[in-house]
Amino acid sequence: MPGQIPENLQKKVAERLAFYEDLGIRFFYRDRYPEALFPHKQPAGSVENVAVSNPIAHEEPTLPKTAKPHFQKPAPAALPKVAPLPLPSAPAPSLFDASDKIVNDTLLRIREDLGECTRCKLHKHRHTIVFGDGHPKAELVFVGEGPGADEDAQGLPFVGRAGKLLTQMVEAMGLQRKDVYICNVVKCRPPENRTPEEDEVATCSPFLVRQLEVISPKVIVCLGAVAFKTLMKTNRGISQYRGQWLEYRNSKLLATYHPAYLLRNPNAKGEVWKDLQKVMAVLGLRAKGKSA
Ligand code: URA
Repeated sequence: MPGQIPENLQKKVAERLAFYEDLGIRFFYRDRYPEALFPHKQPAGSVENVAVSNPIAHEEPTLPKTAKPHFQKPAPAALPKVAPLPLPSAPAPSLFDASDKIVNDTLLRIREDLGECTRCKLHKHRHTIVFGDGHPKAELVFVGEGPGADEDAQGLPFVGRAGKLLTQMVEAMGLQRKDVYICNVVKCRPPENRTPEEDEVATCSPFLVRQLEVISPKVIVCLGAVAFKTLMKTNRGISQYRGQWLEYRNSKLLATYHPAYLLRNPNAKGEVWKDLQKVMAVLGLRAKGKSA
């Protein structure tokens, strides 16, 4: 039948829509113009007419009442260009960040949407998805890179050697692990603990974005370059921004060295402690063992 979408294409579109839905993007429009006015356009229902809309901008502009539709070929609808903003603020939200407008999103719902994920190649070698752990309304969130072997085995973030050091750091700040939230950019262990690749980060980080949106912490500490680059959407190295206050949406963000780096370079611990003291000052914390 003319105009019918081939079955394999229907399947692909359905999968893609399910993927967007998992990311929390649930608003779609097909065609903003009446077909009769623009007969050159693809038939309704063709994939060319299926566009993903940002729920923030869901309301479509209406033509002024006096405006008459013209019958010239309309210019193709240009996607709004988002000029990259200079640090220290994270750039404006992208398509995937549309997830931030999910009403009543919860960590449980995000975990359910993640499911037994097979969206990227990391699923092939993982044993357990490491979603995140800690206080669901923590004022302080630590974001690491990705699970290692111990985390992959236990399903919990930062429980290996680097994790023990992170726990000591948290406790030195006068907190316990249950007071903070700890998660990673990617939720599955990269083989041989390699750095997660761009496509893996792109696939997984929308879930991190949603976690941060739900928790809405006062402070986010990025542990290492991967977390920093992912959240600040930059390719710049961490070194020039380490220990500086940056903005991530409604949270303050500070990047510091990853605990695994500190295990290899114990001399850098002093720098990290200075960074954490900045966080403590913002959160009104006193170092462990220090009385008023
Ligand atoms: N390193 C990370 O970045 N995350 C973990 O959960 C463990 C080690």
